[in-house]
Amino acid sequence: MKNNTEKFGKPPHQPSLWTRADALKVHTDDPTTTQPLVSANFPVLSNEVFIWDTMPLRDMDGNITSVDGWSVIFTLTADRHPNDPEYIDENGNYDITRDWNDRHGRAKMYYWFSRTGKDWELGGRVMAEGVSPTVREWAGTPILLNEQGEVDLYYTAVTPGATIVKVRGRVVTTEHGVSMVGFEKVKPLFEADGKMYQTEAQNPFWGFRDPWPFRDPNDGKLYMLFEGNVAGERGSHNVGEAEIGDVPPGYEDVGNSRFQTACVGIAVARDEDGDDWEMLPPLLTAVGVNDQTERPHFVFQDGKYYLFTISHTFTYADGVTGPDGVYGFVADSLFGPYVPLNGSGLVLGNPSSQPFQTYSHCVMPNGLVTSFIDSVPTDESGTQIRIGGTEAPTVGIRIKGQQTFVVAEYDYGYIPPMLDVTLK
Ligand code: FRU
Repeated sequence: MKNNTEKFGKPPHQPSLWTRADALKVHTDDPTTTQPLVSANFPVLSNEVFIWDTMPLRDMDGNITSVDGWSVIFTLTADRHPNDPEYIDENGNYDITRDWNDRHGRAKMYYWFSRTGKDWELGGRVMAEGVSPTVREWAGTPILLNEQGEVDLYYTAVTPGATIVKVRGRVVTTEHGVSMVGFEKVKPLFEADGKMYQTEAQNPFWGFRDPWPFRDPNDGKLYMLFEGNVAGERGSHNVGEAEIGDVPPGYEDVGNSRFQTACVGIAVARDEDGDDWEMLPPLLTAVGVNDQTERPHFVFQDGKYYLFTISHTFTYADGVTGPDGVYGFVADSLFGPYVPLNGSGLVLGNPSSQPFQTYSHCVMPNGLVTSFIDSVPTDESGTQIRIGGTEAPTVGIRIKGQQTFVVAEYDYGYIPPMLDVTLK
């Protein structure tokens, strides 16, 4: 504690709490916070690969950046196996659902490019096989560093363990397309410490991933958001008055909600290059509310800090619920206090008739929200589904004070640049 005070000139912050009372205000199907229905007739980006988490190339301030007129996105990607005997069921049909559900175990980082901010062309894998130190290449953030085209890719190296890492490479453009060169040396940055952030030893279902580095528009320092769980042995967390919040009579029973311990983590860089990081206490905790606050990211607007994070229905605690989608919180300064947007936190959720239609939303500073298609029902009962593994239609939201509103829908995977960098 003393060290932090010396280094940062102020005592460490108190995490803000997403309380059970806040979550009771979540209303699935409120049209202002619900993603329009995705048609089952969606186009797919590729018949060879599934894609899910989408990471647009951006600068350290959060602006979506094209290079020499080319937009670039990175995606978590896995091969589709339509002809692999392992995924052929007893009737001789391709079991795409099982193939899709297994994808996390073989996730690799790929990149795509486009002249139009949509209609993405596959570039290929970012790192050659064998470069990343673990089996899974999980989500993170590609940052364009300069006009030389240098890119730092921050991501999560998973299985064994979960380590926040970075790898440096370069984006090269021609008239015909984009390639990624370098990306040969992965540098481990940090892992959960067991004191602020839960470790695998404390909870085999722990989460520690999804780095999102940024420069604070106010103090100019380099920080990083990430997903974590609050440290401590699984089952040892206390869901007390603070975590419950101001609930109506009859809502005091917290059931087994002590098992849900999500938090949004933050670290500060000790150097300008972002090679040396110090973890700080979480910005936001959801103990007793939800077990996953994934892919946290910021939009800096109107002098405020809009903190967004994705979460699931299945990760909510006993007695509270909400749709799969993106949730948000706002503060006047980086370290809070954060209050849930729209009272509840819900910003853009799936409609109850298509609860898994999209996920992994990323709110961009222009108010556009990108996500991927997970599965869409193809019949009334919802028993037949079509698996996505491709880009969802982009949604436009308006952010006003402590409220947000769905205002527009755009094409599939529409991620227009906010600025273009001419490479030297
Ligand atoms: C979100 C997510 C990320 C993780 C990745 C794994 O969709 O769960 O948190 O990095 O997917 O596939």
